[in-house]
Amino acid sequence: MVKATVCGAAGGIGQPLSLLLKLNPLITELSLYDVVNAVGVAADLSHIATPAQVAGFLPADNGAEKALQGSDIVVIPAGVPRKPGMTRDDLFNVNAGICATLAEAIAKACPKAFILVISNPVNSTVPVFAEVLKKAGVFDPKKLFGVTHLDIVRASTFVATVVGKAEDASKYSIPVIGGHAGATILPLLTQSEPKIVSILSDKSKRDALVNRIQFGGDEVVKAKDGAGSATLSMAQAGAEFAEYVLQAAFGGKSSKTVQAYVHLSADAGGEQIKKEIGADLDYFSVNIKLGAGGIEKILPIGEIDEQEKTLLAAAVKELGPSIDKGSKFQPPPP
Ligand code: NAI
Repeated sequence: MVKATVCGAAGGIGQPLSLLLKLNPLITELSLYDVVNAVGVAADLSHIATPAQVAGFLPADNGAEKALQGSDIVVIPAGVPRKPGMTRDDLFNVNAGICATLAEAIAKACPKAFILVISNPVNSTVPVFAEVLKKAGVFDPKKLFGVTHLDIVRASTFVATVVGKAEDASKYSIPVIGGHAGATILPLLTQSEPKIVSILSDKSKRDALVNRIQFGGDEVVKAKDGAGSATLSMAQAGAEFAEYVLQAAFGGKSSKTVQAYVHLSADAGGEQIKKEIGADLDYFSVNIKLGAGGIEKILPIGEIDEQEKTLLAAAVKELGPSIDKGSKFQPPPP
């Protein structure tokens, strides 16, 4: 029996993400929470003939806690998205407050749940979650994830396209580490499987590819022209990452190596990361192995070349202040 809750379930990401979770046979109970329309979305999804029983909740009568009660996994795409010209950081003031409120409800209703944070700016909202959970005495770093998986999905697609094998996109695996905003997004093209020697030896092609992976989100924001940011691709990436967590926790399948933005105290391997990045950051998107209790291992970054070392330095420089901002956030009094 696995209960999943989506917070922000009526939104652009929330609706298709909830649909994909309704199709996941590991989930037996699907709870949808939003400040609007969650009951309608739940009624709609509840007619699909899959095992998960669906219910929708609005804020009235302690709806958030009712929705979250006893959840095993909570996926959070609640909050405002970007409009053209905005950075993810511009969303902080609104979304940090939403995240803090949801974290308080999680601490009360399902303190042992896996928490998957999609709300931007991920580099800061994950620290917001951690601080609220710490204050409530229920913080488990092995179970808190900033979802950066869309960057990994984009890297596969864009790399396969540049090498002329767009139809094989899912066969390309490129670790993307660091964080989830512009220069903090660090694709490790030298570690691509299969190898992409022709790109690595062509500096302008390589630079363009790195830039496209770092700023791929902007392409969607621009194309949607004021109607929001990535929703459908994010829903797919979020559901895929949730599937990895669920399979490792409840499906008895140890995971392949994946990346997520995590607290580096989740595993002893976090200390090795601090050495590799040359900075004492508390959070970084790293290679992880998942197990029944969440993060089982933080794996080293491994070998990277000079160009990647330069990108790493830039990522570290930008991440520090974003982490501080999230860690120091004080939610306004209720
Ligand atoms: P949206 O505006 O379409 O949906 C957000 C939903 O959150 C709305 O239904 C809204 O009613 C709900 N909401 C607002 N306050 C809430 C609260 N206190 N409790 C529960 N729900 C609440 O936005 P969209 O496009 O779905 O994006 C959601 C978030 O995901 C944004 O912050 C966006 O920047 C982020 N995002 C993250 C990505 C990533 O790779 N991690 C990729 C794309 C977007």
